[in-house]
Amino acid sequence: MSNVIIVGTQWGDEGKGKIVDLITERFDVVARYQGGHNAGHTVCISDRQFILHLIPSGILHADKCCVIGNGVVIDPAALDEELQMLSEAGIFTEGRLFISNRAHLILPYHTAVEEAEERLRGAKAIGTTSRGIGPCYEDKMARRGLRVGDLQHPDRFRQKLSDRVEQKNRLLEQVYQAPRLDVQAIFERTMQRAPQLLSFATDTAEYLSGAINDGKSVLFEGAQGTQLDVDHGTYPFVTSSNATAGGACTGTGVGPSRINGVIGIAKAYTTRVGAGPFPTELRGEIEVRIREKGTEYGASTGRPRRCGWFDAVVVRYAGLINDLSTLVITKLDVLDGLDEIRICVAYKYRGEVLRFFPTDMEILSQVDPVYESHPGWQTDTSQIHDYDELPQAARSYLNRLSELVGADISIISLGPNRDETIILEESSRLKALLKE
Ligand code: GDP
Ligand code: IMO
Ligand code: MG
Repeated sequence: MSNVIIVGTQWGDEGKGKIVDLITERFDVVARYQGGHNAGHTVCISDRQFILHLIPSGILHADKCCVIGNGVVIDPAALDEELQMLSEAGIFTEGRLFISNRAHLILPYHTAVEEAEERLRGAKAIGTTSRGIGPCYEDKMARRGLRVGDLQHPDRFRQKLSDRVEQKNRLLEQVYQAPRLDVQAIFERTMQRAPQLLSFATDTAEYLSGAINDGKSVLFEGAQGTQLDVDHGTYPFVTSSNATAGGACTGTGVGPSRINGVIGIAKAYTTRVGAGPFPTELRGEIEVRIREKGTEYGASTGRPRRCGWFDAVVVRYAGLINDLSTLVITKLDVLDGLDEIRICVAYKYRGEVLRFFPTDMEILSQVDPVYESHPGWQTDTSQIHDYDELPQAARSYLNRLSELVGADISIISLGPNRDETIILEESSRLKALLKE
């Protein structure tokens, strides 16, 4: 049985939720390893749409277990809301959802600090999802975070919380001129939700290790994407966790030698939400057309996503960072009907072609994309289920993406639903990863 990581190769929203849902049947456990409810993973099953933020998309399969690993940050209110949404949809989580007691808690002061910081940044704001993600990871790294396990001891929790709120109040009042927060109110609200959260809490590293030892297979569901990774992405316009494949090990406590491969998800074009450099960004008619056809609005915040051509430099770089075993291309159908489709094959900076993805964001924001032009196709691809039936122009576009990125394409997604997908059966890489 294989243990496989799903990773976003661009700036998030590549369609990870759909692909996780699609291949979950081949695994026993699905585990989230980083991020929090900044993620929005959409899964469409027949005429029902689910948007998962914290809980792995695998939860929609009634016979699978799901893990929220230690690398995830959890807002108890967001978790509560998501559990309620699932319960109302008739999806039960008891006995099959396990939450790490080492996962850090997002508390109201994280959101308050983030809001104040973003306001102060003004035009230089990151454009975060305002979920308190960054400040929560800051506290984790500063060794003053509160974790799920802390909820087991209300008195100790109250004491620690009181210290933290005092510290944040000084920051809010003296630096940001923002209102103070009330410890007692935060304590009471958190404690109301504690019993439910604790009913799922366990040492998930031990759980996963036991499952793998018993021959079970684990699918690691990444959130965000390579360019939003705090180390490897377009820093500082990133999220505050390791969204790349390495994060799966630190974020769950599963060692690297137990993982068999990495599936990279890429959109057939590029999108980005929030601020930061985006070399292939489009403006005008084509951008609007892609945004509307692709419904490119944030699954968490509803913000319109910035849209651009496929950037092979970005996805090739994701190949390097994540060591992709195979590539999934999603939303090819969104390009139906365009006369011309472009692919960025390289960057030029001050007249010179760059050999590597730049680490300096000033340079990235000034590069000129070098484009190749490809003919579009006028066919509706969303109804096609066989690779050979795709228009010739679509097939050559896919071949070129694969060649430029340096990875085999094994799945092509042509719509939000499970059946709007072509799985290339001859892909030996995929077969090896999904073997029973
Ligand atoms: P994630 O964050 O990577 O899981 O992606 P999101 O769910 O935020 O965004 C992907 C959006 O595209 C969702 O609305 C999906 O339902 C939709 N989607 C996924 N795959 C396809 C596809 O192949 N074609 C089209 N048209 N929509 C898709
Ligand atoms: P999924 O898992 C797209 C972006 C935000 C902002 C930056 C930092 O659905 O692909 P944060 O709130 O994380 O501190 O914001 O990261 N961002 C995402 N963009 N998809 C996501 O998740 C994202 N999660 C965060 O827009 O630019
Ligand atoms: Mg998303």
